[in-house]
Amino acid sequence: MITKTLNNDRNGINRAAQILQNGGLVAFATETVYGLGADARNGQAIAGIFQAKGRPSFNPLIVHVANLEMAQEIAEFDDTALKLASTFWPGPLTLVLPLRQNSGLSGLVTAGLQTIGLRMPDHTIANQLLTTFSGPVAAPSANISGKISPTTADHVTEGLAGKIDAILDAGACKVGLESSIVGFDPVPTLLRSGGLAQDAIERCLAGNLAIHNPSEKPNAPNAPGQLSSHYAPTASLRLNAKSKRAGELKLGFGPDTQADLNLSPCADLVEAAANLFAHLHALDRQKAGTIAVAPIPQKGLGIAINDRLSRAAAPRPKRPDL
Ligand code: TXA
Ligand code: MG
Repeated sequence: MITKTLNNDRNGINRAAQILQNGGLVAFATETVYGLGADARNGQAIAGIFQAKGRPSFNPLIVHVANLEMAQEIAEFDDTALKLASTFWPGPLTLVLPLRQNSGLSGLVTAGLQTIGLRMPDHTIANQLLTTFSGPVAAPSANISGKISPTTADHVTEGLAGKIDAILDAGACKVGLESSIVGFDPVPTLLRSGGLAQDAIERCLAGNLAIHNPSEKPNAPNAPGQLSSHYAPTASLRLNAKSKRAGELKLGFGPDTQADLNLSPCADLVEAAANLFAHLHALDRQKAGTIAVAPIPQKGLGIAINDRLSRAAAPRPKRPDL
């Protein structure tokens, strides 16, 4: 694939929006860092993000919106969330909020969680792109997993040239640090410190901001994505299941006549990633005692799929403090 560099004029923005509509990947500038964007409603496009970044696991992604109306179609805002949004949006603040039932977002965006990280970037070009596309755009930082976040189009090119459709070049990012993330589980909590100063958030909330400090809770996971507990099905999972046992439901991969649902009948790992959380939810709703999962090859996106499946299959620890 040849990665196009698009200018930040009307033509470039229209072209970028069109690529997103077609399920492609576009890196674009925000005030914090460059994001690698895809249509948040398109599971295959979202799987493409993980593929391009080479992420070995699925983290929930931040979804970018053009305005508050769009945000409220996706998530439920209580008074505190509305206060933060009206004070700091557009700006480097991500709010983790309850996901609405009919949001239409791919389950891969939230990694199967019932909450969603939302933000409205403070950047003219990003905002024009979001308005032209007129839909939610999921975008993690536009770098290879484990590398430094990009703040110029050249940084994006270094990591992702040949792996994504286009880069919308809008110069250097002025903040240069990812957004601050606030969740509400149940009290306002700073989950990641970032581009918006903590004391500004504290002032807006009259001091009512808890800080997520992993050292205070030795058993708590320390990455924000792991905080609100990853989605785990109620059913237990039996992995690498070649055939189905009595009473089980089967999640297939590749040609499989026993499968109740199939991640990808043609054994395509991108399609499988796109279907993973939706299929797990669907089988779980059928109240399976056990879901038997076909072997998934340990390569490409299969590594992230297997990582997620083995977490979901692990014995569930009691976590009274979370
Ligand atoms: O500044 C930024 O926020 C950049 C630019 C591109 O907007 N984006 C960014 O996205 O940093 P990303 O996807 O790399 O950051 C995702 C972080 C993860 O650490 C994830 O754990 C947390 O946000 N997150 C997202 N949704 C979440 C959720 N539902 N619950 C808890 N944490 C969540
Ligand atoms: Mg990142």
